[in-house]
Amino acid sequence: MMTGERFGNDRDQRSGTSGADPTELLRIENLAVDFPTDDGTVHAVRGVSFALDEGEVLGIVGESGSGKSVSMLAVMGLLPMSARVSGRAVFRGRDVLALPERERRSLRGRKIGMVFQDPMTALNPVYSVGDQLAEAVRSHEAVSRRVAMDRAAEMLDLVGIPKPAERLSAYPHEFSGGMRQRVMIAMAVINQPDVIIADEPTTALDVTVQAQILEKLIEVKDAVNAAIILITHDLGVVAGVAGQVLVMYAGREVELGSTAQVFTTPRMPYTAGLLGSIPTLDTTENRLRPIPGAPPSLINLPPGCPFSPRCPLVQERCIVDEPDLQETDRRDHLAACHHWDRLAACDDPTTFFRTGAGIR
Ligand SMILES: Nc1ncnc2c1ncn2[C@@H]1O[C@H](COP(=O)(O)OP(=O)(O)OP(=O)(O)O)[C@@H](O)[C@H]1O
Ligand code: SF4
Ligand SMILES: [Mg+2]
Repeated sequence: MMTGERFGNDRDQRSGTSGADPTELLRIENLAVDFPTDDGTVHAVRGVSFALDEGEVLGIVGESGSGKSVSMLAVMGLLPMSARVSGRAVFRGRDVLALPERERRSLRGRKIGMVFQDPMTALNPVYSVGDQLAEAVRSHEAVSRRVAMDRAAEMLDLVGIPKPAERLSAYPHEFSGGMRQRVMIAMAVINQPDVIIADEPTTALDVTVQAQILEKLIEVKDAVNAAIILITHDLGVVAGVAGQVLVMYAGREVELGSTAQVFTTPRMPYTAGLLGSIPTLDTTENRLRPIPGAPPSLINLPPGCPFSPRCPLVQERCIVDEPDLQETDRRDHLAACHHWDRLAACDDPTTFFRTGAGIR
């Protein structure tokens, strides 16, 4: 059952897209989201572009309010009506942002599975878990209730819920937090999606359970052959599972590249600051060292680099001219910084934040 045969039609469609990379699943191009509000327009996402290959794990990191959730909600078509979205999100050759709502709904839950931080927002407290899983199947596929229930039990088993057939009749509140998140993962993958979007999937859980759930998510993703976009505050998680990482700041993508490269040789001071804030085994200091200052308001963004008020490497140009995401000395490693070469010239760019070196 866990094969890609049900996606045959889409594969054919994609092969008809001239010049498409056969391994490319999703391409986001210059995604932007504005929210008009009484206080002015919130420029929540100001240009995000990346490509996700089949089966790949992409991590998205950045401080609270940097636009991580809004960008992915835009791709899924789950933003409030007031949101103004531009750009493209090409999934298997089709721009999902341009699809009619009916077709988008059909993509959600079928081709794109979702896991959120709080399973109770996605699970309905008045229906049994089995009914909800079966409904997730039957809303996309004409199968009997019996077949759908069998698949629901199979999925509960896959996510590691003991005695899955018996648990079908249980209600969400009868599961622990970790078990509920497993149910949500089962829901996300029950229709064998091509991509799972997981937004802080373990943040609400006990630390001891977090690692197990993450491990299960990755195991299940491999079992159904899906790619994952994983939004998290936890750089350790990204380092452990993501092949590619995208760093966001003030609605912009400020660094993109292979995780190994971005984490060992960052080319954007903000990323270096984030890395410097992780406690390491060889320090006696066991606390995160946050980057001093706060991100700018997304309503009245001043000109220049949005990180400039906090950046130890800031120069005159940074204050007037916002840098574009640009190539660096590293292959497929992009950074939005006028002075990435100064990070390249330094053995450990995180020291800029520790010592204040480089501050004008
Ligand atoms: N409906 C809305 N109306 C106005 N502004 C919004 C709306 N939804 C989100 N925003 C704003 O968009 C910006 C990006 O929010 P988003 O939820 O994407 O941040 P995030 O990176 O996911 O943060 P966190 O790590 O806290 O989840 C924030 O400034 C937020 O206040
Ligand atoms: S452009 Fe300037 S202010 Fe912005 S991150 Fe680079 S050095 Fe710092
Ligand atoms: Mg968020």
